[in-house]
Amino acid sequence: MRRLRRTSALRRLVAETTLTPNDLVAPLFVREDATEPMPIESLPGVVQHTQDSLRAEVKSLSQLGVPAVILFGLPAGKDAEGSEAWNPDGVVQVALRNLRDDLGDEMVLMADLCVDEYTSHGHCGIVGVDGRVDNDATLDLYARAAVAQADAGADVVAPSGMMDGQVLAIRDALDEEEFDQVAILAYAAKYASSFYGPFRDAVDVTIADGGDRKGYQQDWRNGREALEEIRLDLGEGADMVMVKPAMAYLDIIARARVEVDVPLAAYHVSGEYAMIKAAAANGWIDEDSAALEQLTAIKRAGADFILTYFAGAVAELLGP
Ligand code: PBG
Repeated sequence: MRRLRRTSALRRLVAETTLTPNDLVAPLFVREDATEPMPIESLPGVVQHTQDSLRAEVKSLSQLGVPAVILFGLPAGKDAEGSEAWNPDGVVQVALRNLRDDLGDEMVLMADLCVDEYTSHGHCGIVGVDGRVDNDATLDLYARAAVAQADAGADVVAPSGMMDGQVLAIRDALDEEEFDQVAILAYAAKYASSFYGPFRDAVDVTIADGGDRKGYQQDWRNGREALEEIRLDLGEGADMVMVKPAMAYLDIIARARVEVDVPLAAYHVSGEYAMIKAAAANGWIDEDSAALEQLTAIKRAGADFILTYFAGAVAELLGP
């Protein structure tokens, strides 16, 4: 076997997997009350953007060849339902309009579709009297947010709340308002993961009363269940499906790849990024090669594209 590993050119010739900037989606945070970009301590190199700094960043990502971004909003005010998620002048809606003005169709604009950044209690839906998130009541909120995002110019809405029936509710709402061209990227297999820790800093979310999302996100002991989630979302009209997080779920990505022929995404989440950053800052690993190795492994496992906080840096490394 070693004959073909002898030179860099030989290795390039026989490489089975190639990562390119086209495989990357950059998650970006935009904060309504920010007057300058605010660093996020647990996500070095990532900031909460102002509308202006977001526009500059997306332009530069576009120049690096990154084809898509996904937006998360930090509203100036929160309430029990998360109503800023569907305010036509809400922070993400304003951002979508700006970016569409700046870039036309040059960049795919995705909007994360959930209410947790917008609710006072930090849950992904309406909390009922029993303290649990009410599945069916929440669907109506997602439908409203989807229409607001589509109206503001989103190419893709990405429901991440893990409510049953959310894809169907969103597809129906979009079609009813004649947004039939807006695609749905379903966070289909999303696990209740510890690796979202830094993201909660990034969006200033604390789940009320020490709560968690285990009542709606998946249990990481389960694999077959993820395939059922994916099948259900496709049946409800998802155009693309996602597995999240990525590194501890390469088996799920590989199994999903065998099962589905629609585009398959994986989310290399905040904690996965932060671990590489922290180890590299200590001089314990090489940041660039660790990032390339992980992202290439996710693609090798079967993902077509990857949401990653390394998008800009890795696109720069890979070149055009
Ligand atoms: C929910 C959402 C979360 C992430 C993306 N969408 C947080 C959660 O489910 O608690 C996490 C992303 C990351 O950790 O990078 N709107």
